Amino acid sequence: FAPKLLQGISILLTAGPTREAIDPVRYISNHSSGKMGFALARAAAEMGAKVTLVSGPVNLETPMNVNRLNVASTQEMLDAVMQQVHHSDIFIGCAAVCDYRTADIADEKIKKSATEMSLALVRNPDILATVAAHEARPFTVGFAAETQDVDHYAKDKLTRKKLDMIAANDVSDPAIGFNSDSNALKVFWQGGEHALPATDKYTLAKQLLTLIAQQMKTA
Ligand code: C5P
Repeated sequence: FAPKLLQGISILLTAGPTREAIDPVRYISNHSSGKMGFALARAAAEMGAKVTLVSGPVNLETPMNVNRLNVASTQEMLDAVMQQVHHSDIFIGCAAVCDYRTADIADEKIKKSATEMSLALVRNPDILATVAAHEARPFTVGFAAETQDVDHYAKDKLTRKKLDMIAANDVSDPAIGFNSDSNALKVFWQGGEHALPATDKYTLAKQLLTLIAQQMKTA
């Protein structure tokens, strides 16, 4: 009987979108479904890992044997991740994090008046780069959704954010990515790469986790 590939390993994942409040009834967000992150959480648990999934607002059931922490804003996601990061062997940032949040959240619903209005936005912290910069950091894996020059931008992100691995997908292809049930990935690490052709997100999750386990051994 072979031991499971991720037995005894703790994995921390982010999934889904984040949501930035404008006022008590409105927010800024994106179309992330959370499917890739939830597929990774399910596959990791089945492969024997202890899984903590920090999830933005999504319409998905928590996979079996996964500890799920629900958050809304980017700051809440960062806080949850930083509380868990110390006892994690692997961090996978799969969430579609809002790059900007509103400079102020209005206390009351904003009334319509002028024909034009503008919202002041400020940059959010980068959760993935914060984890990668942490001392005694876990094996850190990012995602890159690109519409052009996928290889170039993914490799640049790998180096710039000091990641151990990056999984890139071409979101200009409507058959794969965001709300779809299937995806294809190109995975890069320092000195290597591997293409994972289009398949369902659960199969892809198992393949990506196998690559991560292999690279952790050689790292
Ligand atoms: O730079 P870009 O947003 O394309 O990088 C995508 C990767 O960085 C994803 O893994 C995403 O989860 C992560 N990210 C993050 N915090 C942010 C922005 C992106 O963790 N504020």
